[in-house]
Amino acid sequence: MRRGSIALTIAFFFSYVLFIGFAEATPERPRPVKTGILLVAFGTSVPEAQKAYDHFERMVRAAFPETPVRWAYTSSMIRAKLARQGKPLDSMETALARMMDERFTHVAVQSLHVIAGWEFHEMQRNAGAFGAMAGGFDRITVGGPLLASAEDFTKVAQALLNHLPPGRKPKEAVVFMGHGTSHPSNAGYAALMYHLQRRDPGVFMGTVEESPTIEEIRDALVLRKVSRAYLMPFMAVAGDHARNDLAGDGEGSWKNVLARAGIKCTPVLAGAAEYEDIGMIWVEHLKAAVARLDLKP
Ligand code: CO
Repeated sequence: MRRGSIALTIAFFFSYVLFIGFAEATPERPRPVKTGILLVAFGTSVPEAQKAYDHFERMVRAAFPETPVRWAYTSSMIRAKLARQGKPLDSMETALARMMDERFTHVAVQSLHVIAGWEFHEMQRNAGAFGAMAGGFDRITVGGPLLASAEDFTKVAQALLNHLPPGRKPKEAVVFMGHGTSHPSNAGYAALMYHLQRRDPGVFMGTVEESPTIEEIRDALVLRKVSRAYLMPFMAVAGDHARNDLAGDGEGSWKNVLARAGIKCTPVLAGAAEYEDIGMIWVEHLKAAVARLDLKP
């Protein structure tokens, strides 16, 4: 063996020993606790709809005045559109990577999803993946969607009933538009309608994508000889679906589907996150997620 290679072997040996030694001596470098909140929403590019997110953010900041609050939008289409307008927003994954780089140790993620559908589960899975990364967060938790427990159904039903149009007459109906999903949790919309109708038989809950469809609701309204209905979105923001699919002038809009059945419609465009009592349910879920961070007082 030449002298040079002996030296090299020894060097390798010691660097190996040193490496193992370091790895064992410092299994976890202690670092200061840094807690953050990440709010996740589908996103909207409708400026008037944005106020629902702004309202919710104010509620979150009031509940957690000391904690930094970030936003992420899940819709890549909305993000691209906003970026072209000079308003860049992160996806949840980019936002979490950024927080990881900024040495956040504990992150509570709260989405503005209504039900635990495909999007919510995807989000939960990816947040969990960030929690499993070496050298990443000590802990990451995800708060439930609006309708996460049996109790939420009665709370949400009551909150929606609190916001029915004040000018509504006894025989007039109110039709809410939820988003809907092919995920089994879509059943939540019909379940919510059950809770609503126990208190007010003139209130209906349909979805854009799935059952209950607007045709099913139209038939129910015709059967009850309803001639006038208020249309209200049941989504965090009154964005594109509310403005086009609910109240738009297109042939397939809910307003026009009902008009063809002789039902006059008055749309009321407010996002669910604009209401204090609905926003509070999401905030409670965030509080539970923060509690699961197990922070020492
Ligand atoms: Co949609």
